[in-house]
Amino acid sequence: MSEPRGSEGQAPHVPVLLAEVLDALAPLAGARILDGTFGAGGYSRALLEAGASVVALDRDPSVMPHAERLSADFPSRFKFVPGTFSSLDELSDGPVDGVVLDIGVSSMQLDQAQRGFSFMQEGPLDMRMSSAGESAADLVNTLDEAELANLLFAFGEERKSRRIASAVVAARATAPISTTTQLARLIEKTIGRKPGDAHPATRSFQALRIAVNGEFEQLVEGLFASERLLAQGGRLAVVTFHSLEDRIVKRFFDPEKGAPTQSRHLPQVVQEAPRWARAGKALKASPAELARNPRSRSATLRAGQRTAAPARTLSYAGLGVPLSRGAA
Ligand SMILES: C[S@@+](CC[C@H](N)C(=O)[O-])C[C@H]1O[C@@H](n2cnc3c(N)ncnc32)[C@H](O)[C@@H]1O
Repeated sequence: MSEPRGSEGQAPHVPVLLAEVLDALAPLAGARILDGTFGAGGYSRALLEAGASVVALDRDPSVMPHAERLSADFPSRFKFVPGTFSSLDELSDGPVDGVVLDIGVSSMQLDQAQRGFSFMQEGPLDMRMSSAGESAADLVNTLDEAELANLLFAFGEERKSRRIASAVVAARATAPISTTTQLARLIEKTIGRKPGDAHPATRSFQALRIAVNGEFEQLVEGLFASERLLAQGGRLAVVTFHSLEDRIVKRFFDPEKGAPTQSRHLPQVVQEAPRWARAGKALKASPAELARNPRSRSATLRAGQRTAAPARTLSYAGLGVPLSRGAA
């Protein structure tokens, strides 16, 4: 497979768990696949090279040069549609045999300081994948202290969320917090840094990014949209990068995992026909991939095959979606 090329001066995004994703989707020549998270097009290109037709979505307009390259290489089998995967069933031209979602930020987004995703580089506190709507700076400078603490705790599992929120509110009383490194330094000063641990701003940046982009809502809606779109036998493959997302995907494929234990004193609940078959265990990167691409360390792939049972109505119940009153 040819590697996706990056834009000038930028390292290309290296697709994670690519062999495993191809294996899960098993694209036959002529299959129609929807790639809901195009990025640099690594999955799309591999699927096209396997003979499939691909409709690809991305909410980030900056992926266009990558999409144009694939359109030039595969003019009759590749189409790019700008948009979010929460409505992938409406953006698809018709039924598909497979859907793939590779949730999270791309290397291009992380590496561009002006996008504001990385606390390692000085940039505006932005984090909007689509470059529209409320930015991370808007949240940090307007949420009240309790809302901000709830957000950092719920979406970043940050146990020192209250101390961070209090420090943010004190700092912004003097001047708004407007850059990535300003926030990262404030967090480091507030909760300290232990040698060998991840940067103390890691969890807070994750939480803000999730809130800014409505990532949990996107994921839940995208999963149910895939269930509606895929016919019997169609395959769904989802790659996630942290445990909060993986829990949602796991419970979506196997609702029994999120169901409360049945009391033997209550009437038996009628078991519904499963919507997904062959939804096996989570796959992680091999030692060889870890050595090649350290970013694959936190990636988890889950996949399933659609049964004939009718699609469910969208519901957040039982999926373990974190709730934050401070979420945008
Ligand atoms: C991890 S990258 C995908 C990389 C891709 N698999 C590849 O091989 O190059 C995730 C991409 O999904 C996009 N994205 C994230 N959430 C999205 C959503 N809700 N709808 C559409 N695109 C989304 C991001 O803008 C980013 O470009």
